[in-house]
Amino acid sequence: MYYDSQERFSGGGKGGLPYNPFKALVAPRPIGWISTIAPDGNVNLAPYSYFQAVADQPDIVMFSAALDMKDAQKDSAPNAVDCGEFVCSIVPYALREAMNETSRALPRSTSEADQAGIEMAPSKRVAPPRVAAAPAALECAVVESRRVLHRGGEHRYTMVFGEVLGIYIDDQYITDGRVDTAAMKVITRMGYDEYAVTENKFSMKRP
Ligand SMILES: Cc1cc2nc3c(=O)[nH]c(=O)nc-3n(C[C@H](O)[C@H](O)[C@H](O)COP(=O)(O)O)c2cc1C
Repeated sequence: MYYDSQERFSGGGKGGLPYNPFKALVAPRPIGWISTIAPDGNVNLAPYSYFQAVADQPDIVMFSAALDMKDAQKDSAPNAVDCGEFVCSIVPYALREAMNETSRALPRSTSEADQAGIEMAPSKRVAPPRVAAAPAALECAVVESRRVLHRGGEHRYTMVFGEVLGIYIDDQYITDGRVDTAAMKVITRMGYDEYAVTENKFSMKRP
């Protein structure tokens, strides 16, 4: 099949499939479990699957936050920009329910971590803490935030880029100096309500 994604977006009637398959195709996407500090000092924690590594000289990651139902910014983006820092904890299969719980829309002054009973641990280089039970976490300083525009110039998403200042790795996942990603059982996001677990791996040398 083929469908015109602009038709789908504009509600023009020709969409092809009942649900937008875009996220099922650009999949799996890593999940950044983003912790930030709100202006009142509260720790905010939320999952973002529009999350990716975009550079490694130095290491830089980004997450992309939609406007919420009321066309307001979700908390993580303004918190990160205002305080200049965020932490991205890696989500293992064991923490899937806790991660999901933190996707609830709560007021900026309410800590999703507290609400979901998730233990946080202090970071070394930045103020936002990491998820204590996460197998790894990236401590980031915001280097840029930018609006993601439609062709028509409208804006519904804000991307926040962070330079990684320090990385926590649970030692149990380091073998012979290499991180065993598969052993972490990291979960990733697909489309609809589907997730995948990264358990299988294979190696291939570059030509
Ligand atoms: C696995 C998962 C991935 C998500 N990815 C995103 C995302 O990339 N961008 C986004 O705007 N919302 C995403 N959400 C929804 C946010 O987590 C949710 O709106 C949350 O309430 C935002 O919290 P905040 O306002 O504290 O930032 C995702 C939810 C889940 C469960």
